[in-house]
Amino acid sequence: MRADAVLSQYGYCSRRDAATWVKMGRMTLNGDVVGSASAKVDPREVLIKGAAVPFVDGLYVAINKPLGCTCSHKEQGDLVDDLLPDQWHNRKGGVQTVGRLDKETSGLLLLSDDGTFVHRLTSPKHHVPKRYRFVTENPVPAETVDLFASGEFLLEGEQSPCLPAQLTMLSDCEGLLILHEGRYHQVRRMLAQQGAAVLQLHREAIGSLELDALNLAPGEWVAIDPAIFS
Ligand code: URA
Repeated sequence: MRADAVLSQYGYCSRRDAATWVKMGRMTLNGDVVGSASAKVDPREVLIKGAAVPFVDGLYVAINKPLGCTCSHKEQGDLVDDLLPDQWHNRKGGVQTVGRLDKETSGLLLLSDDGTFVHRLTSPKHHVPKRYRFVTENPVPAETVDLFASGEFLLEGEQSPCLPAQLTMLSDCEGLLILHEGRYHQVRRMLAQQGAAVLQLHREAIGSLELDALNLAPGEWVAIDPAIFS
């Protein structure tokens, strides 16, 4: 790639400013300054301001989404985007969340700039399980376990039933629910329809990726290997 294209594609600066960055000696290769904006370089080999280019082959990140923080620019409040380095947003293709968590839901959220990866993880066809821990206002009726597992549970206002979901109650008002799809406010709506409004909701796992194993404080993120989902 051209040196100036590396700088703009990976979000360091605009294409227009890239020539100036190169002239300022901000890109080096094996200790030597890359002196020309048109020089052909491998983004895996250069350093920019002394550091390697992050996520050259795609950005795959897990974040511990804090409560009260929103994935949507249409809602008011702090944005998940604001927890991420500006440079990620300036990368060609940007960065998007893999599905969404509600403002009042905490827990594991994935981010990527790879559209195919995002689609694979969000499409119900691929059945990637997501595990939620919840607390409800009222006890969840006992028959709910079988009803959610049946594949016949219909959310109000929807035409197609929910895919079978695994509910494990830990006490009358606390439990785990594993979903294989991601409909709008799905956990809250499913439980509310059973007379058990959700008071707290937290996503603990996506596929084999467990938030606890990542040791992230709320708002912290870490790079992940996308291969764990293949
Ligand atoms: N289900 C919900 O109701 N909210 C979420 O954030 C995720 C799943």
